[in-house]
Amino acid sequence: MSHLITDIPILDEAKVHDEKLQGIAFESEQNKHNPDARRLYMETYGCQMNFSDTEIVASVMLKMGFRTENNPKKADVIFLNTCSIRENAEQKVWERLKQYRALKKQNPKLIVGVLGCMAERLKTKLLEQEKLVDIVVGPDAYRDLPNLIAEVDSGQKAVNVLLSLEETYADISPVRLNSNGVSAFISIMRGCDNMCSFCVVPFTRGRERSREVKSILKEVEELLQEGYREVTLLGQNVDSYKYQNTNFAQLLALVAQMDKNLRVRFTTSHPKDISNELLETMAKYDNICKFIHLPVQSGNNRILEKMNRTYTREWYLERVKTARSIMPEIALSTDIIAGFCSETEAEHQDTLSIMQEVRYEHAYMFKYSERPGTLAARKYPDDVPDEVKTRRLNEIIALQTQISKEKNLADVGKIFTVLIEGTSKRSDADLCGRNDANKMLVFPKKENLKKGDYVQVKVKYSSSATLIGEIIC
Ligand code: 5AD
Ligand code: SF4
Repeated sequence: MSHLITDIPILDEAKVHDEKLQGIAFESEQNKHNPDARRLYMETYGCQMNFSDTEIVASVMLKMGFRTENNPKKADVIFLNTCSIRENAEQKVWERLKQYRALKKQNPKLIVGVLGCMAERLKTKLLEQEKLVDIVVGPDAYRDLPNLIAEVDSGQKAVNVLLSLEETYADISPVRLNSNGVSAFISIMRGCDNMCSFCVVPFTRGRERSREVKSILKEVEELLQEGYREVTLLGQNVDSYKYQNTNFAQLLALVAQMDKNLRVRFTTSHPKDISNELLETMAKYDNICKFIHLPVQSGNNRILEKMNRTYTREWYLERVKTARSIMPEIALSTDIIAGFCSETEAEHQDTLSIMQEVRYEHAYMFKYSERPGTLAARKYPDDVPDEVKTRRLNEIIALQTQISKEKNLADVGKIFTVLIEGTSKRSDADLCGRNDANKMLVFPKKENLKKGDYVQVKVKYSSSATLIGEIIC
């Protein structure tokens, strides 16, 4: 739930991986009617993992007696849960902090905290550079918030950026702030061991660790009881999930078996870990969405090697072919980086050609942004001029826009199973929901249908981002 805040601009709705559209204030009912409860306002930047972490932070803070607040002007504590993946993600947070300087002047007691990846990367620099920051908390230190808040209350600055080898927050029930009541995200692992040379994540989120199976299944069970109908299993690299003897394919099967009316999604997959066992598990259960987010990053082998992605173009294409042979209807999306160190024009063309070959439903596309401390920053000069990166990115975006449009057009006439998420934002007379491929469908309301119900929708026509259809049963 987000409300308009005057002066301080409200940020748009969140999308996985897209730092252009994020930051939301949320409210929970808990402690809301306690007049003494201190008020917490939170903003989240970056990937879905961060949104999931914000729900953990909210849980810890509510337990301490705080209430959530969606107007920063009324807050006693403002937390920014931040992202470091690209420079512009960090830039946005710096700008936001400047905006909060005015609030702090009005209310010197206001506590401002920076959480998440920027906290981990910049540590005490945040306290020094931006004098208004009181508290800096890394992604593995949220349990320590009660102590850190107490330290700040006693007039000190507080920092905890210790990374952990075990922390999964398995026993903390997230407060579902970022939810439509139908779909929820479940964090199944944390950190990443892949060491892609461009990526700051292994440094900000630490070593990979998997959450115990039992606690994941318990969370699914609770969500089912609360009426949720869709879960997305989340991790930086879910395919390498391993808890004792359970691998990701087995976990996915366990979750799918819990209720055939529960839709199961997962993200993100690494091409090197997409096993046939996983693909066959997806095929076996109707309620596992036939959709894989499979970041390719580049279509050129020399660049893939420099990126330390540990697969080749041929390997990637073989995985796609196998996935399609097992599930002909599978939908794919990807992440692409334009202008990585030393990328030539011909190598950029290889990225365009792999996009043509795979024909993704959707892609998240970025200009390479050098991140301090990463393997690439240490080893390779960031030598593709910015205007060349921009031009290549624009070519990639233009091609993907064309492919997505063609794919949407090809959906016209098809019938999809849609999970109703609610009334369409554009019209009260319409409902909306997603198909397996995560595409939004809009269709006229019918009596007795409510959010959380499944319907069969036939697509009549498509706009750039939405399919418009009608219920057939
Ligand atoms: N520059 C640009 N894009 C990046 N990504 C990760 N690190 C960088 C970087 N330094 C992209 C990758 C990844 C997605 C989450 O963000 O495509 O899959
Ligand atoms: Fe970063 Fe690569 Fe891990 Fe993804 S898989 S988080 S890109 S290191």
